Amino acid sequence: MRLKTRSCFSPLCRRPAGERLEQDTAFGRRTGITVLVLAVLLLFTGCGAQRDDSLRIGVALYTQDDTFISAMAQNLEWMVREAESETGRKITLFIADGRSSQAAQMDQVDRFLARGCDVLCVNLVDRTAAAVIADKAEAEGVPLIFFNRQPVAEDIQRWDQIYYVGADARESGELQGRLVLDAWQADQEALDRNGDGILQYVMLEGEPGHQDSLLRTEYSIKAVADGGVEVEKLANETANWNRAQAAARTAQWLEEFGSGIEVIFSNNDDMALGAIDALADTPRDCWPLIVGVDATAPALEAVAGGQLYGTVHNDGRGQAQAMMDLALTLWSGGDPAQAVELAEGHYVWLPYRAVTLENLEEFTEE
Ligand code: BGC
Ligand code: CA
Repeated sequence: MRLKTRSCFSPLCRRPAGERLEQDTAFGRRTGITVLVLAVLLLFTGCGAQRDDSLRIGVALYTQDDTFISAMAQNLEWMVREAESETGRKITLFIADGRSSQAAQMDQVDRFLARGCDVLCVNLVDRTAAAVIADKAEAEGVPLIFFNRQPVAEDIQRWDQIYYVGADARESGELQGRLVLDAWQADQEALDRNGDGILQYVMLEGEPGHQDSLLRTEYSIKAVADGGVEVEKLANETANWNRAQAAARTAQWLEEFGSGIEVIFSNNDDMALGAIDALADTPRDCWPLIVGVDATAPALEAVAGGQLYGTVHNDGRGQAQAMMDLALTLWSGGDPAQAVELAEGHYVWLPYRAVTLENLEEFTEE
């Protein structure tokens, strides 16, 4: 457990007392004038002295331009405020936007360490970059929490102060598949439009290489097939978790297959909403069944409106809470296993839950 005090390398460490929470997404974009002003501040604030006893958490996002991830960052901000008033301690949250560049994220991690962050939370751009970041954190003795983008087990096990907070990708795929299976079993005639007894589908995939893309794609279809339904894939393509890309793919597929598409599986809600965008000019009774994952606010609205058949709740708030609990415990030298439910000494898993019109209320109340 690292609880040593370290000297402060950054002038930003001495913010006015009222400015508790800070979001810095532009570490590398300071102008010469700003640098000058900060240098003057440095003179007057005595930065470079021993740091105070506030908790500093550095959060590196793969990109802030992702609905699920930006909601998680917002949750973290709320939780920091809550934890501050509960503990009476100052907590500073630095949030950096990796803009989908692993090189940029590496720089951000270096800066967090140079700023004397006590805990790092990293949402990797590239999952294979985990080892390098793990070694940097270990060298500085700074506990590291990866989240949402899961490194391979060997990277997590490099050091006993590395954690992963996330949800089991396979579970989300299975739950999504079962939603479709239930719909098929409840009303096969409505779903099997061409009446051939086979479920024709297209698959909108997330970023290639992401555990959630790979496992949701595989296990959603497996759940349907395991339920005894024959499936036929018409097309699959990545839309990189992105709504506009998904709308473009779906528009192409609609041209190609028309009403031959019976189900659109989407690895996340943003892409499912993109599919819905592409269907805007198609009469509703010709729409395929569409399913997503995440249960974002706009997706829940689409479930309420009947455009989206169902989704799978990805508990971003629970994940943010687990990260906060872990960070606070690691900082205060407590036992992480007392703060969160820890699997194999390194993992915190939040459960997924299926959402349809039937149980929608449970999620819209949240
Ligand atoms: C979410 C996606 C998100 C991705 C980012 C997934 O768990 O379901 O919506 O884009 O994480 O890594
Ligand atoms: Ca069919």
